[in-house]
Amino acid sequence: MYLGLDFGTSSVKGVLIDGKQKIIATASAPLKVSRPHPGWSEQNPDDWWKACNIVVKTLGKMKPKAIAAVEGIGLSGQQHGATLVDKAGKPLRPCILWNDARSFRECDDIINAEPGIVEHAGNIPLAGYTAPKLVWVKKHEPKIFEQVGKALLPKDYIRFRMTGEYGSDMSDASGTFWLDVANRKWSEKLLRASGMRIDQMPKLYEGTESTGQLTPSVAKSWGMPKRPVVAGGGGDNAAAACGIGAITDNAALVSIGTSGVLFVSNDQFRPNAARMVHAFCHAVPNTWHQMSVILSAAASLEWLAGVLQTPAPALTKALGTKISGSSPALFLPYLSGERSPVGDAQVRGVLMGLGHETDRKALTHAVLDGLAFAFRDNFDALKDAGTKIKRVTAVGGGTKSELWLKIIATVLGVPVDLPAAGDVGGAFGAARLGLIAATGADFHEVLTAPKTARTIMPDPKLLDAYEAQYRRYLQIYPAIKEIGRS
Ligand code: XUL
Repeated sequence: MYLGLDFGTSSVKGVLIDGKQKIIATASAPLKVSRPHPGWSEQNPDDWWKACNIVVKTLGKMKPKAIAAVEGIGLSGQQHGATLVDKAGKPLRPCILWNDARSFRECDDIINAEPGIVEHAGNIPLAGYTAPKLVWVKKHEPKIFEQVGKALLPKDYIRFRMTGEYGSDMSDASGTFWLDVANRKWSEKLLRASGMRIDQMPKLYEGTESTGQLTPSVAKSWGMPKRPVVAGGGGDNAAAACGIGAITDNAALVSIGTSGVLFVSNDQFRPNAARMVHAFCHAVPNTWHQMSVILSAAASLEWLAGVLQTPAPALTKALGTKISGSSPALFLPYLSGERSPVGDAQVRGVLMGLGHETDRKALTHAVLDGLAFAFRDNFDALKDAGTKIKRVTAVGGGTKSELWLKIIATVLGVPVDLPAAGDVGGAFGAARLGLIAATGADFHEVLTAPKTARTIMPDPKLLDAYEAQYRRYLQIYPAIKEIGRS
């Protein structure tokens, strides 16, 4: 048996699979985000550990024999978060998350610290990445900065709680802006540019390698007498790609979760820093990927649900499954600023074209369309970078809305496949990586594409209307860029 654990922003998910990759049980526990100031986004690392224990113990109650037979565990996690621990491994402050916008000025500090840094990294430092967050802490919380023993990514803090070892995998480490992505090792130059040292970094592994075993006390409390090995795992997007077998050149996925991600696997390092394309290592050896990231995808719908005091699924359900055209109102989903393709942490969202007729249904439609346009903007950014996407596989909680998938397929103009495994995303990919680490299996044989349950095709009747509306959407950001800053 193998267990995948995904540390998302809104929940921790666990998936238990057997040696044939059949899903035996799934469980999840919710997480909350704290936003102490506008643009800030934090979580308490101990809340991840509590939620993790709830998930594993729930699975243990559901399937005690299967849990007792677990031999390998894989971890997947929200990327980029700065989890700062002291020399004893105790968190020094809440984790500053991937969608926290506070450190935009520190990106310039990093660029100015060392000449040629963007060319060296193949990426532009963005407020979401880990390095600028450390520069911010150094400036604003110098006492905490002095005590940093290790700077860990969220899932790697959990690895430490599980195994007592400090380790990370190449895909997640790429999102720190401290990794020499081309050569898969920490970069002294990048570390220096943000005032960090190599001894503050965890040891690097491939996602398929074992990084250690559960400690005897954790193994006992989880009812896992075999003391399973813990695989390197992956950042949640790379782990989700492993879950759907997107490990060959140009295989693509669209992840519709709190964030929205277009992810393309590459057989070599293909940097294209312009338009904020992230060029990172994949979670399997000798493989890289490009990624374009929308900070507030399902998070925008959750925002609307909060304002309208109606759960998001009820809002999308009220729209039904068919629409006759695009939404007249336009929504720019930059609630936390935006990563790709504009790279602007200070801009904020826009709702425009409101009229007396704009009711809750119309607002929901505008938000779904705005997000599809944001995906298209990123799709075009990847296209400009020479990447051809002919079809995408969709993963994440947003795939539950049939209508949203239809809109996305229409706006992107490509078929969207839904994997038969359902909404298991990063957790399933992580479980597969746990299986590989425990058995030494060839990753090509394990990380195959699951069966496609359904394919959503673009709606030819809506193509023209959506194309025209996308052209209007594209004009919003340049028009409001200066006045729309928070
Ligand atoms: C990727 C990113 C997000 C988080 C969400 O660069 O920041 O997709 O990983 O969990």
